[in-house]
Amino acid sequence: MNQFYNKHFLKLSDFSKENIYELIKISKKLKYEKKNFKEKKKLVNKNIILIFEKNSTRTRCSFEIACFDQGANVTYLNIKDSHIGVKESLKDSARILNNMYHGIEYRGKHQKNLEIFANYSTIPVWNGLTNEFHPTQILADLLTIKENIKNKEIDQIKLSYIGDINNNISYSLIEAASIIGFELFLISPQKLNFSKNIYINNIIKKINNNGNINITNNINLGIKNTDFIYTDVWLSMGEKKSSQAWEKKIEKLYTYQVNKLLLKKSQNNNVKVMHCLPSLHLYKHYKNLFTKEIISKYNLYNGVEITDDIFESNNSIIFQQAENKIHTIKAIMMTSLLKEEIF
Ligand code: CP
Ligand code: NVA
Repeated sequence: MNQFYNKHFLKLSDFSKENIYELIKISKKLKYEKKNFKEKKKLVNKNIILIFEKNSTRTRCSFEIACFDQGANVTYLNIKDSHIGVKESLKDSARILNNMYHGIEYRGKHQKNLEIFANYSTIPVWNGLTNEFHPTQILADLLTIKENIKNKEIDQIKLSYIGDINNNISYSLIEAASIIGFELFLISPQKLNFSKNIYINNIIKKINNNGNINITNNINLGIKNTDFIYTDVWLSMGEKKSSQAWEKKIEKLYTYQVNKLLLKKSQNNNVKVMHCLPSLHLYKHYKNLFTKEIISKYNLYNGVEITDDIFESNNSIIFQQAENKIHTIKAIMMTSLLKEEIF
């Protein structure tokens, strides 16, 4: 029996380094098969539901394409159009859907709600993003990293994540670094939020236990000789949005933008640039999010967390990350739905 059978995929710290390496290996093979028209449909007659409480392009499409490729049937449910959490508790919804489906993807606000869903599910539940974690994204990122390193393993790289360090991407990267052991620099003037949130507190404990995870406001130190620079939006979907909220973040983070000067500081011409997307690198997509005064005061005409020239440069592996979500999500679904080994 394959070791992931009937297991939920809620956060990376539920898995070992060997588990994660194995999922990456399976994803690579699935990618090869798809690209070479050798894929066999192994999820025929499986019914999958995708529940979304927040917007999505990549994650939703990756789950759907993975289902189509593998012959599974798929339902997309915007939580607003359902009774989930309103007329009906999460625990009831989970038990109802269990009798209809074979697997549930859930993108919601709170990790604790996802865990309730999972606790009352006899079928696999997959985390499609919560305020705290985004494990399917980081698995795709790890596959992308693996594809971009020669003569190195993932546990030998230095990854510099810069910008807002209190979001689902930074927390999941901390989990990944603590499991795999690569060198992670979180570069920001912020401190990690010691909130009452049990999941975040567990993460902070991990940092204290591992010497490979560093938090610094010193850009030169965090960036020097790095292999990968990773950034994300400065205001995430789970946060309240207003021009003032944006200005607060921008005021703190504007010198932590991924731009030409930052890449130079890495002293690595081959440094790779990563972003989970969506990204605010084109003026017309953020000009209505905050005032013209903010844009002018902080000189954000060429991008917010990343400038357009770097987004479009040869250093960028951003679109490879986006594509890889199909293959890693497919691996997560197949390994948890099928008893037998995938390969
Ligand atoms: N990166 C990511 O999860 O993108 P979506 O919000 O479009 O799913
Ligand atoms: N931190 C971002 C990730 C988007 C994929 C957010 O939660 O909005």
